[in-house]
Amino acid sequence: MTSWELRNKFLKFFEDKGHKIVPSSSLMPDDPSVLLTTAGMQQFKPYFMGKADPRRDFGTRRVASIQKCFRTSDIDEVGDETHMTFFQMLGHFSFGDYFKNETIEWTYRLLTEIFEISKDRISASVFNGDDKIPFDSESYEAWSRFLSPEKIRKGPREDNVWGPAGPEGPCGAANEVYVDDLEVATLVFMEYHTAKDGSLVTLPSKGVDVGWGFERIVKIVQNKETIFDIDILKPHLELLPPELPVAKKRVMIDHLRGCVFLLSDGIRPSNKEAGYVLRRLLRRLFVYEYRADMVWPILDGILHDILHEYGEFYPALLKNSALIRAEIETEREKFLKTLEIGILYLEKMGEISAKSAFGLYETYGIPYEVIKELGGEHAAKLDRAGFDEEFKKHQEISRAGAEKKFGGHGLLLDTGELKAADEEELKRVTRLHTATHLMQAALRKIFGDRVMQAGSDITAERTRFDFSFERKLTDEEIKKVEGLVNWAVSKKFEVNMKEMPYEDAVKFEALYFFKEKYPPVVKVYSVGDFNADPPEIFSREFCGGPHVKNTVDIGHFKILKQESVGAGLRRIRAMVEP
Ligand code: ALA
Repeated sequence: MTSWELRNKFLKFFEDKGHKIVPSSSLMPDDPSVLLTTAGMQQFKPYFMGKADPRRDFGTRRVASIQKCFRTSDIDEVGDETHMTFFQMLGHFSFGDYFKNETIEWTYRLLTEIFEISKDRISASVFNGDDKIPFDSESYEAWSRFLSPEKIRKGPREDNVWGPAGPEGPCGAANEVYVDDLEVATLVFMEYHTAKDGSLVTLPSKGVDVGWGFERIVKIVQNKETIFDIDILKPHLELLPPELPVAKKRVMIDHLRGCVFLLSDGIRPSNKEAGYVLRRLLRRLFVYEYRADMVWPILDGILHDILHEYGEFYPALLKNSALIRAEIETEREKFLKTLEIGILYLEKMGEISAKSAFGLYETYGIPYEVIKELGGEHAAKLDRAGFDEEFKKHQEISRAGAEKKFGGHGLLLDTGELKAADEEELKRVTRLHTATHLMQAALRKIFGDRVMQAGSDITAERTRFDFSFERKLTDEEIKKVEGLVNWAVSKKFEVNMKEMPYEDAVKFEALYFFKEKYPPVVKVYSVGDFNADPPEIFSREFCGGPHVKNTVDIGHFKILKQESVGAGLRRIRAMVEP
């Protein structure tokens, strides 16, 4: 069974049981409390919490998905036989519908009937209970229908209570499912909500959150020794120089694949948050490549294969392939400039403290993982916590500057993107917001699809818009963008909002970017002449609003400044008058 066949069989199994198949959400989650998407349940949090109605959005209370996931917590484990940073999670979910009995029976049938794994290789663990959550006797009994008692373990909270993903969210007792000694699935029975202060409240209705490690179950089904030997990873690994230690090869394949997906979801290398994770992965990759005297086309070849093989299931990879390539190349070039001297410096250092390690990172861009590895004995005392502490100190200094601006005043509107303190400001940010949509549309009309939103921030004074673009815009081009936006203003285009299922919105060719969540039902804002036949659409985007009703309300649009905010990323500041 190939990986892709297994994927389809999984979805079909649950589709036959009344599940609606929902596309993977972005690796960049909507939820600001988590850095990256780490589990299939994340996009469904509102349904578990009773804040959204699954029947309205999916027509059913059962859904299944294959979710792109990224776990930074596993970075240090990559290189062994079972861990990866990026992986795919096969998931099925019940929002107040089926519960433990059906879930456990289906898990068992999937393993034995679809994946054809013999019963004696299967075992499970259930929660043994503590003062907060009782022993999970219901799961124990459900498993007893299929497995003999020595195959059902009672486990502690660390292993058998799951969640929340982030500081708050749904959670509950979990079963771990093993084939031989490899954990392949986690069945979470959502019954509680952990609040920010750590307290536990019972959810209005019970839910099920099941996640299978795709690559892990493929390893079992394909009867391979490690996850890196499966059909979608092994051929890539084999392209690397044979003399490289196998752990390094695994790191390279894992990191390259992870970077491709992070880039495709709009993340760009930077010094903070998800961009920092991406930068570290890329740089570790480049160090290995450099030390092994590898020539770039090897990785480029693998990159090409990844884009095309996964592109069938994740079309954004193909759509963004030129951009992904360019980003990797730019970051590599930049890093190689300082790497050699950084390594020389590193090799001459005596004992490496957290502070000197951070200095190396700041000056030469060498990431922690590489310092630890190349530093050898000199870095023996260096640990991640110490390094992160230095990093945090540095960030606090930069953040102090940012906080001054908003001085802790209550904000009337704060969507993350838009900020307004009172009604007056709200009016201005609304005008600037629609102007930002027009500007993005204008940029894409002039330069094409390579312009992609990377972020935006709108206050009453100005809009600040970041987008992918490889060079400075000429004065003439700036004038052209301004001119096109002001033309759209003068045309008195209507602004229309329509709510529609996510999939329809994608078909509708609405623009969507990493900051947006992909809930099942999205708002799409369109600007254009709807009375024309056919209607002329100037701009169309997924967006939460608010927007002006007619472009004439925007006023005169003016670009104030452009700057570079990293390789391949530009920033424009603009305002509206009067
Ligand atoms: N949410 C569960 C996990 O991530 C299924 O393991």
